[in-house]
Amino acid sequence: MKNVPRNLTFAANWKMHHGISEARAFAEKFLALTAPSDGRKLWFFPPAVSIATFAAAVKQRPDIAVGAQNVHWEPKGAYTGGISIPMVVEAGARLTLVGHSERRHLFGETDEQVARKTRAALASGITPLVCVGETLAERDGGRTEQVIVRQLSALLQVLDVQQWRDVVLAYEPVWAIGTGKNATPDDAAQIHELIRMELGRNGVSFYVPILYGGSVNAGNVASLLTRPQLDGVLVGGASLDPAGWADVISRGSEAKVRPSGGFDLVES
Ligand code: PGA
Repeated sequence: MKNVPRNLTFAANWKMHHGISEARAFAEKFLALTAPSDGRKLWFFPPAVSIATFAAAVKQRPDIAVGAQNVHWEPKGAYTGGISIPMVVEAGARLTLVGHSERRHLFGETDEQVARKTRAALASGITPLVCVGETLAERDGGRTEQVIVRQLSALLQVLDVQQWRDVVLAYEPVWAIGTGKNATPDDAAQIHELIRMELGRNGVSFYVPILYGGSVNAGNVASLLTRPQLDGVLVGGASLDPAGWADVISRGSEAKVRPSGGFDLVES
């Protein structure tokens, strides 16, 4: 058994915002407002066209990594509009979002496709940040647990236990995304525990980081991150302005390093 310091991750999902010139301007301002901090990772998911520019602009910062918002599982082929993992890697991506709820619900991405993308990302050596979460109807119908378990089970079916060492998960209740309604710290912590139990039941006994996402902002990030179950946040709207995002990061970081933050854990 050894004590492994847990990282704290702040992930910015820009969705369909910030083309090349806006991404460059963001980087300039953001770099001046933040400095690397031990055990803290800053992840950015710009639109695909801005990955190369943004990755080049932040390359002197070891704490910052850049990812794609979506990738295809095939390395190349006749998939009009698709972008492959080797392409985003060449542009500077080291991560990719997989199965964001907007991909699942607006673009009809299935659990099986999410699993294929996750497996392909791992095979190419980039980190998949895989999103799970229930809709409002599913929550109201008392099916939250069932939905999360189903989404995880699609991944568990295709990944070897050891591959989970390189996976990061995000719990994002769909009803909390872009709506201003965020889950309470208790709600979030409870589902994070459910996810961890489900992984454990399937033989994943080491620590898989789980971020929380859904209307996280400067006003609620501290109370969410005081929960030891949360390893970071995945943020859309509140990550678009460089000063605002730097503020979320600084408030969240202060909250997490309190002794009650449970920053360390024991891993076998
Ligand atoms: P939001 O988006 O912070 O704007 O709710 C979060 C996400 O979709 O990842």
